[in-house]
Amino acid sequence: MIFLKKPSEAYFIDSTKHLKVVVIPCLKDNYTYLVLSANEDEALLFDCADYKKTLNTLKVLNLKLNSIFITHHHYDHVDGIDELIKQHPKAKIYCSQVDIDRKLFKAKAQSVKNGQTIDVFDEKIKVFFSPGHTKSLMNYFLEKSEVLFCGDHIFSLGCGRVFEAYEHVYQDFYKSLQKLKDLPPEALIYCAHEYTLKNLDFHQKQGLLKENTITQLKIRTNKLKNTRTIPSTIAFELEHNFFLKAKTALEFEKLRCLKDSF
Ligand SMILES: [Fe+2]
Repeated sequence: MIFLKKPSEAYFIDSTKHLKVVVIPCLKDNYTYLVLSANEDEALLFDCADYKKTLNTLKVLNLKLNSIFITHHHYDHVDGIDELIKQHPKAKIYCSQVDIDRKLFKAKAQSVKNGQTIDVFDEKIKVFFSPGHTKSLMNYFLEKSEVLFCGDHIFSLGCGRVFEAYEHVYQDFYKSLQKLKDLPPEALIYCAHEYTLKNLDFHQKQGLLKENTITQLKIRTNKLKNTRTIPSTIAFELEHNFFLKAKTALEFEKLRCLKDSF
């Protein structure tokens, strides 16, 4: 069995290859992420599930907010954007044009496109258009640090639910997940929810667990002092996540629909 205990800390700081990531547990099972500049005086924010907690962490760590990167428009990813900008008026906001047009916040945002690279903190952030969970979801990959911020696109042993159905949504979702296979195997995946144990249960009940899935996951959670299972890695998901391992869009669709009623 894998147990997760409630963290006593308000945030964790992870060291990656190049920059540090601050992990802030929010709401029931969300994570909000900050990436620190090299001299640790500024931060990039990847989605916001709880603006009060985010502002508090910025204050405690004495950080100026440099930029906000939004993966998609759901409330637990864009909480209090205008409040954040009120306190950090120089911060830039990056977001898909479709999500900007949803007008969930008043602050001015720059629209991002698939394949675009944004230079910030001596880091290159590559944008991946990743429709599926929503029609306009964007993933952000920090090339030097080898870190992916993907919102609700992929989870450890799972993926997001389809929230905006359209004709070829499962084909699109399948293709956007397949794009992850081009990332380095050791790249870290910082997804927005702690859903891993529920997804593990689904894999187990469907007879999809590989022999070493639980062992691998235990090693990871033990390293994280049993407080979380995130970050995952591309290598782990390629080997164990059957939403990513699906061989066709149809196989993926069947699995996703099965999980919807699980
Ligand atoms: Fe979402």
